Amino acid sequence: MADFPELKNDLLLRAARGETVERVPVWVMRQAGRYLPEFRATREKHDFFTICRTPELACEVTLQPLARFDLDAAIIFSDILVVPQAMGMTVEMVKGKGPHFPERLDSPEDMKKLSLSVDVDKELGYVFSAISLTRRRLEGKVPLIGFCGAPWTLMSYMIEGGGSNTISRAKAWLYRHKDASHQLLQAITDVCVEYLEGQVKAGAQALQVFESHAGILGTKQFEEFSLLYLTQIANKLRERLQQSGLPNVPLIVFAKGAHYALPDLGSSGYDVVGIDWTHDPSEARRAVGGGVCLQGNLDPCALYGSKEDIVGRVQEMVRGFGRQSWIANLGHGIYPDMDPEHLKVFVDSVHSLSQQSV
Ligand code: CP3
Repeated sequence: MADFPELKNDLLLRAARGETVERVPVWVMRQAGRYLPEFRATREKHDFFTICRTPELACEVTLQPLARFDLDAAIIFSDILVVPQAMGMTVEMVKGKGPHFPERLDSPEDMKKLSLSVDVDKELGYVFSAISLTRRRLEGKVPLIGFCGAPWTLMSYMIEGGGSNTISRAKAWLYRHKDASHQLLQAITDVCVEYLEGQVKAGAQALQVFESHAGILGTKQFEEFSLLYLTQIANKLRERLQQSGLPNVPLIVFAKGAHYALPDLGSSGYDVVGIDWTHDPSEARRAVGGGVCLQGNLDPCALYGSKEDIVGRVQEMVRGFGRQSWIANLGHGIYPDMDPEHLKVFVDSVHSLSQQSV
């Protein structure tokens, strides 16, 4: 591993490991995004995946929110859909529509078109370069988070060919093509493990796995098609990090909408369980059990409210989560039409209201 500047703010890493913190760390999902005029300016000049694939641009965009807000972490600018691309699929980002796969997987036959053994360094080396560059440019200011999509969420994009409200085409596979579904989920899992290991090798100091489509599954299907692979990722990754002499970085799992699964997620091998805004913080704390840090969970739409209202909600969050083993965040990504000044109120009030008087 390269030598990087020494980390000055390790609040997020300490909170993730359950160690005592002087104040609660905060970062925001989609903190680099279209709500920032400086991001829109970069996007006007470059296509979305060109930014992802150009380390200099990905690094610039990653650092944009840190220049404005007192955040306790950076998250590398990329997308979960770079993994399906690495497996041979074409993904475009369509203005006003979101991601689009011109050739989605229609039936298990189509899996023949995928490359199931991916040369991760070759296909995703640009993400590793962006991470190493960003680690240097951060100069140890805050830790850098790497990420990937969870297998079920990626499988559903690959089959749906884009966003979907019902995710019914992908769910049809779970009922009709159970074996093929497991084969696909396993192939994605294998790529994710190698990809996350590569991110740590490149300099990522924490990792988040996004299971954005957990909420569409019921308890049994979640267990069989999501949890099994999330657990495998955590276990295999830790084993590989140890074998390669790489740091055992904190792992965060965010399974949006998986109410019923909090106890399982709490014992799935992750240090941190991210929760969306529909959870009550103290109930979530009870459900995940001791020894697990929580992350979340302000409703992103609360940022449409007044600044005073945001402060009040942060106060409530501090009461619900407590000041330890908690990483403050929104309960999902920030939207493009939100006011950056309101995000600043969120970030600053987490800091001021969570100071530990010791
Ligand atoms: O959080 C960050 O700042 C890091 C960057 C990041 C992006 N996407 C950038 C992005 C991360 C961590 C993601 C994860 C991601 N991507 C998820 C999981 C999180 C979640 O939202 O549930 C998912 C499901 C995707 C797939 C994806 N990418 C969708 C559905 C969209 C369209 C969303 C939209 O609002 O249009 C994207 C595009 C995308 N990814 C944008 C950004 C900043 C906006 C697109 C643009 O600039 O044109």
